[in-house]
Amino acid sequence: MNNRKRSLRAASATLALVTLIFASITQAKSQRSLAGLNMIKERQAAFVLIQSNFKFLGDVARGRVDATTEKIEVHASRLAYFSKLLNESFHKVSNLGAPHTKTTERAWSESQEFNSMMSDFQRNTENLALLASSDNFDHKSFRRATAQVGKDCKACHRQYKAR
Ligand code: HEC
Repeated sequence: MNNRKRSLRAASATLALVTLIFASITQAKSQRSLAGLNMIKERQAAFVLIQSNFKFLGDVARGRVDATTEKIEVHASRLAYFSKLLNESFHKVSNLGAPHTKTTERAWSESQEFNSMMSDFQRNTENLALLASSDNFDHKSFRRATAQVGKDCKACHRQYKAR
């Protein structure tokens, strides 16, 4: 084999290798963003369920809707349950920005504060579920606990959810 042929072969082998590396990087990237997109869908679904259960509780707290304590208990325990699902759905692979997600970059750059707001929220929904399941249901404490959870939603949206 002459020198020219040899260097041509070496060049095409290098090119094939580089192409392969790029292809696998692209594939890894698209797999990662697919995981991120699924995670976004998951948390948005959880929020939709959080919203509907919370709306019911808010309406009861304001006296707009009459409900049995059993029904209040069901919705409050669902709210607490769905809130906990959020722990797994804010991994940084899902930091994909608009138009995929309304979660702002700050949720990750200020992850400590974001996580602490999340745990406060989860603790408060747990507290609400406890009050709702109490044998001597007290409307006033229930209303106060519901208002607290409502404040948690607003505070977090103000800081970490794009409009
Ligand atoms: C610790 C932060 C945090 C708390 C607490 C929180 N949210 Fe959110 N919420 C978000 C973020 C961030 C998004 C954007 C999700 C996305 O698009 O990635 C969101 C999105 C939503 C959505 C839109 C879902 C969709 O279909 O895209 C609804 C509805 C919602 N939240 C309701 C609520 C309600 C109701 C509460 C309180 C009971 C609440 N959230 C508490 C951070 C929070």
